[in-house]
Amino acid sequence: MNRKVTKAIFPVAGQGTRFLPATKAVPKEIMTLVDRPLIQYAIDEARAAGIKEFIFVTSRGKSALEDYFDTAPELESSLKKKGKTELLDVLRSTNMDSGAIAYIRQHQAMGLGHAVWCARRLIGDEPFAVILPDDVIAGEKSCLQQMVETYEEVGGCMVAAMEVPPEQASSYGVLDIKESMGPLVAAKGMVEKPAPGEAPSNLAVIGRYILTPDVLRSLDKKQQGAGGEIQLTDAIARELKSLRPVHGYKFEGRRYDCGSKAGFLQATVAFGLNRPDLRDEFSEFIASVQAGHPAE
Ligand code: G1P
Repeated sequence: MNRKVTKAIFPVAGQGTRFLPATKAVPKEIMTLVDRPLIQYAIDEARAAGIKEFIFVTSRGKSALEDYFDTAPELESSLKKKGKTELLDVLRSTNMDSGAIAYIRQHQAMGLGHAVWCARRLIGDEPFAVILPDDVIAGEKSCLQQMVETYEEVGGCMVAAMEVPPEQASSYGVLDIKESMGPLVAAKGMVEKPAPGEAPSNLAVIGRYILTPDVLRSLDKKQQGAGGEIQLTDAIARELKSLRPVHGYKFEGRRYDCGSKAGFLQATVAFGLNRPDLRDEFSEFIASVQAGHPAE
């Protein structure tokens, strides 16, 4: 039996330059899909998978994230006075248990591997999850929960995996496949951002990971990889060199790349259409746009 995964790292130190000027004053993780910030989707997914400790790797200019997860006593009491119990419940769903959330700063932008390594002392000697909030995954069962259930059987390291068109593979970490067993894929290698035409497969790594503490020790080496950054993919690939297993997990669900404008807009439309309180009005609007008569 493999040890339970109860800690998750959320790397949220990136500057979000693709969304400037919006991200000049607001962390990109606070940008909202309908009415919930990206980070709330990531936290809810982690909770559903049984995560109890949430570790944020932040940077300068990200204090709005800390405020977001704090209590809001003035707001709560004014909603209470007005009898707005539904809104009170919505607000309370963002509260975190005292001591369940920790913030560590990555002082220099040295890559995803380095960001994860910054949390090493809070992880200690147990398996942990990593969630990249830019990747929003919609599905019946949360992606991380699907992975945790499978991890409990197979152990080792596991990354979420998704097939991508070959011409897009160079934007991702890509798995070199040893063996496919349904949704589970045994890897024999991993490459971060392979040059066009050099990807070992079209199975890309998506931002959900379950990792062993060995990966943190491997990150101690601070080896630079693609783009001169310390890459998480490289540290996981070194596990394979040490003959420890790494699996890809082809999750069920739809992934939206909310780190790109097109992906963010797609997620907004999909989540909007999925909301019972908005569906009718919104789908009418979309139909009118498609018919070439955008509402004024
Ligand atoms: C990161 C990882 C990459 C992974 C991707 C998934 O890249 O380094 O391996 O495929 O997330 O979204 P980034 O998108 O931060 O460049």
